Amino acid sequence: MLRANNEITSVMSSYVELKRAGRDFVCSCPFHSERTPSCHVYSETQSFYCFGCHAGGDVITFIRLIEHLEYMESVRFLAQRAGMAMPEDAGNDDTSKKRARMLEMNREAARYFRDILNSPEGREGLEYIQNRQLTHNTIVKYGLGYAPDGWHNLQYFLRKKGYTDDEMEEGALLARRNNSVYDKFRRRVMFPIIDRRGNVIAFGGRALEKDAPAKYLNSDETLVFHKRENLFSLNFAKNTKEKFLILCEGYMDVITLNQAGFDCAIATLGTAITPQQVNIMKQYAPEVIISYDSDGAGQNAAMKAINLLSEAGVASRVLVIPDAKDPDEYIKKFGAESFRQLLGKTATALDHEFGRLKAGIDLTVPAGKSEFLKKAVPFLATIHTDTDRMVYISEAAKLSGQSPGAITDLVNDRRRHNAYGEHKKEERELIQSKTRRDPINPDSTDYPREERAERGIIAYLFHSPDLLPRVEKSLSPGDFPTEFNRRVYTKCAECIRSGEKLDITAISGEFTVEEVGRITGICRQADTVPYSIPRLDEYIRVLIGHRREKDDKPVSEMSDEELLRKMEELRARKRK
Ligand code: UTP
Ligand code: MN
Repeated sequence: MLRANNEITSVMSSYVELKRAGRDFVCSCPFHSERTPSCHVYSETQSFYCFGCHAGGDVITFIRLIEHLEYMESVRFLAQRAGMAMPEDAGNDDTSKKRARMLEMNREAARYFRDILNSPEGREGLEYIQNRQLTHNTIVKYGLGYAPDGWHNLQYFLRKKGYTDDEMEEGALLARRNNSVYDKFRRRVMFPIIDRRGNVIAFGGRALEKDAPAKYLNSDETLVFHKRENLFSLNFAKNTKEKFLILCEGYMDVITLNQAGFDCAIATLGTAITPQQVNIMKQYAPEVIISYDSDGAGQNAAMKAINLLSEAGVASRVLVIPDAKDPDEYIKKFGAESFRQLLGKTATALDHEFGRLKAGIDLTVPAGKSEFLKKAVPFLATIHTDTDRMVYISEAAKLSGQSPGAITDLVNDRRRHNAYGEHKKEERELIQSKTRRDPINPDSTDYPREERAERGIIAYLFHSPDLLPRVEKSLSPGDFPTEFNRRVYTKCAECIRSGEKLDITAISGEFTVEEVGRITGICRQADTVPYSIPRLDEYIRVLIGHRREKDDKPVSEMSDEELLRKMEELRARKRK
């Protein structure tokens, strides 16, 4: 019912762009960054599977992954989306209650910090904020506050509101040393971090003194805060009318830009940019203007951002800020209008990088020309779009005095070399992954052949549940040597026996999202060979063969469990 009202393609298309491919759809996977779409959506089985990162499952699993919700929360999310009423008991699952309470506690904390800022105790903080030229409106808009000096201010306030010390510690509002807990944020201006839905999920706090050991202190990760998956000020930027986002380094840059009329400014939360954040940006604007600090560190970070964005197919430009250290300082010195002009003049990311290649080289002398060429070829080889590459090759040809053809040859050679390197890397990873245990099914290393057969049988059950008796005639769950596949098989068999339709949704509540992804993968990978009874029988034979081998083990080498099973079997045989 829930699923019927939440067609997987309709749900997924509000997060990603689906393209038709035959009967099914493909899209760029929202769970890892990629250039060619490898996430497939199957209407018939109402499931998705990414052949790149192996995420997969039904529509509920998709919501669990993309909204970071627990199973029951996802069900509720989808019910709400479809305008359905929820069954009575659904709101009772523990994690979602805990999460809701933590969000409510954060909101109380934000109110507390805000009220302090407006009280005599917060004077120091307010003066600081006003010195940085934030207006009253901006202070209110961003919910800024002040954490007073002292070790237990927030703690005692929240206790009065009914929260326990444990809850506050788990919510990263208290820190612990040995046996005592104390306020994590003290004598700091507080920036609430607010997610797209308006929840206060964390805080950033700026020290007042010039040389504080940690200028900014951010909340640690909690049940409700994943810093790699959030962006500061996205709650405003998501509604921008601009055709681009401005990506900054710091909270103050974003707030100053916002106050100056650029509501499309965002920042990462004290970390380098991540693929998850790139995917979020992609949902809101076709282009990102990187506006990092003008120092070396900022420019290097910009390079990394360009690469991640380009991998995800997001266009980017880099804003170079003249005569100021960051956007905040620039706007204070030269004003919003001047910043707007700067935006208009911004070179594309490629132009920017290409320009950096020439820096400090004298192109009028032969030595300079070859030095330039040596730097240009590796750069040109990394440009993925053919047309862009051609444009810059011809540009490089002009500057170096070589023919475009000669440079193209050099670049192509380099590209082959890179591709070979990629291939080698994949090979290495494959070898490594063989020696590393599979985190989902660690037993598979010990039983490679049997594990393949187990997967085969599981895929058959999904494809033709009516074949269960044929499997059960020869095998019992104990014949599945790997623990994970045994669990999957048992669940599938239970489901079929109960008369329920066996599909991913029927069992997805019993497994983690990673496990659901694996199960979906088992079905998808089996699809590449036609299903046939002889093939199923072959899988069954492999497991029977394994049982025989196991039975032949000398008793002295058996585990206790094996010994018990053996005795059981012998007794049963005698009875016959
Ligand atoms: P910056 O040091 O560039 O800060 O750090 P800023 O934005 O110019 O700060 P002001 O103008 O001096 O107030 C940029 C971002 O890096 C993170 C914060 O998220 C900050 O906004 N950061 C910086 C930390 O997490 N910890 C630090 O100690 C410093
Ligand atoms: Mn600054």
